Amino acid sequence: MCGIVGYVGRQKAATILLEGLKRLEYRGYDSAGLAVLQNGRIDFAKKTGRVGNLVKEAKNHHFTGTTGISHTRWATHGGVTDANAHPHLSSDDKFALVHNGVIENYSSIKKFLVSQGYTFKSETDTEVLCNLIAYHYAKEPADVGESRFLESVRKALRHVEGTYGIAVICPEAPGELVAARKGSPLILGVGDNEFIVASDVAALISHTQNVVYLKDGEVVHVTPKEFFISTLDQEDVSPVVDRVTWDIEAAELNGYAHFMEKEIFEQPAALENSMRGRFSEDGSTAKFGGLNLGPVEFRQIDRFVFLGCGTAWHACLVAEHLLERFARVPAEADYASEFRYRNAPLSGNPLFFVFSQSGETIDTLGALREAKRKGYKVLAVNNTVGSTIARETDGGIYQYVGPEIGVASTKAFTSQLLIGAMLALHVARMRDMSFADGVEYVNALKGVPALVRHVLEQAPRIKEIAHRYAHHTDFLFLGRLSLFPIALEGALKLKEISYIHAEGYPAAEMKHGPIALISEKCPSVFFAPKGEIFNKLVSSIQEVKARRGPAIVITTEGCEFPPGLADDIITIPDCHEAVLPIVATIPVQLLSYYIACARKCDVDKPRNLAKSVTVE
Ligand code: G6P
Repeated sequence: MCGIVGYVGRQKAATILLEGLKRLEYRGYDSAGLAVLQNGRIDFAKKTGRVGNLVKEAKNHHFTGTTGISHTRWATHGGVTDANAHPHLSSDDKFALVHNGVIENYSSIKKFLVSQGYTFKSETDTEVLCNLIAYHYAKEPADVGESRFLESVRKALRHVEGTYGIAVICPEAPGELVAARKGSPLILGVGDNEFIVASDVAALISHTQNVVYLKDGEVVHVTPKEFFISTLDQEDVSPVVDRVTWDIEAAELNGYAHFMEKEIFEQPAALENSMRGRFSEDGSTAKFGGLNLGPVEFRQIDRFVFLGCGTAWHACLVAEHLLERFARVPAEADYASEFRYRNAPLSGNPLFFVFSQSGETIDTLGALREAKRKGYKVLAVNNTVGSTIARETDGGIYQYVGPEIGVASTKAFTSQLLIGAMLALHVARMRDMSFADGVEYVNALKGVPALVRHVLEQAPRIKEIAHRYAHHTDFLFLGRLSLFPIALEGALKLKEISYIHAEGYPAAEMKHGPIALISEKCPSVFFAPKGEIFNKLVSSIQEVKARRGPAIVITTEGCEFPPGLADDIITIPDCHEAVLPIVATIPVQLLSYYIACARKCDVDKPRNLAKSVTVE
């Protein structure tokens, strides 16, 4: 949610900043801007709309400076206007600042600054922070030996409530940049006499794989030759330089039309990566290196609580189902945003898992902190090494699916489903699951990439179905048991990227309300795999057909339906119950993707959405 990039080095900053912004565009695309230090002053450009608009606008400027900052915005305070676009300059033109986050006490600070003669051009909280830095710079020069620029930023930040990832430049400190974070991600890329700060590794990976993940409350002062990290209270911090394991290739389209398409088709490989090295030698269970929990401790867990937002919450629902089904342990899934304020009574010995692709979702982080505050152990299923959630949990399971860039989550979701299934096995084998059943389960997990590949081969047919249904404005997605969350996910995918109204429901619940929506104008997507409730699902389809509702049925090989019941049938391979949710997800990902393409929607950047939601 909002992306920032800052550069200090020997190259033209604008080129690097614009390239970085393009890679961060998934974080927000309401407006974009950059500011560069040159000729002893700040030159800047900003424009509403996509980074492409800024690239055109930047051509009217002669950005030659080698120090600069930039921003792509997901609007919070103030509408989508050029004036509200970042960077913001202080009214004395001594500072330019970009910001990801929300300054909660901006209005009292603004009142104070107005009384001190500072003026404002925008409605943003960010401009307030920029002027507050200018105020401290003018008023309270730092002690001898400290950079006055650095100390002014620190002093301003000490008065700020809320969240921020910021980068600041000052013409009186040429070649310097100060960046800081609290609650919003910020990474420092360490190059050869050049440094890039960014909200995400994707913005700097083409320049360096050496990074420092800044922590909350840290401030970095960058010059062309070196960097220093300290806290707001001036304590020095020894930096840990990590190496990013993926390279720029992973963040390229490589011939696909959209990142969503690429990531859908990457799923067989992504699932392999999530499983690699995670089975016991005897092939009967899953093992995880990062849980930081011994088997005895694990056995004492009497309840699993899974927390996440959006698509990750759907993965939590499946994990809940599989833990109860196979490990026979009580489990529950909750929205992280609800859990954090619900003050739920918790007894016994629960173990918490937060699911988050980005590791930065503020509500998931809030839920994690709430559970930890109450003294519980919290583990994470997470795809982003170095993320805030990865750092704050007591351990967890990395997904290793590489960067997910499409705003609508696909490969991260199926990987979370897989890890949930592996966790259920791990727990089940500590309890009542037999060796033979464990081996069968492991083999099913190992076979899932091939099954997914098989479903992906049906893409042309699903595309054809999608084109026939793309004009509809309402859809229902109906499934039961472990496929009810997949119905929710199917509906979410469709509405996210094609703006079609879609609802996911347990199939049997359909008759308690949604049935009123059924007509020839409202297609239903049914999950009807083989199993003990197959006949009940057939009855639900009959109820839809009796009301002239079109039915697209996703079923397993070998299932038969009364003639004329289904308008379209998509067949997935018959598979183990633990992997069924993964295999059943692929058709609805493809269906929603192709419907969105048919409607000419901007699949990778759906309106109003952001991939990583770092505000409440
Ligand atoms: C946003 C994204 C969703 C994602 C959710 C949770 O709403 O648009 O696709 O599922 O955040 O993200 P996380 O990074 O925590 O998995």
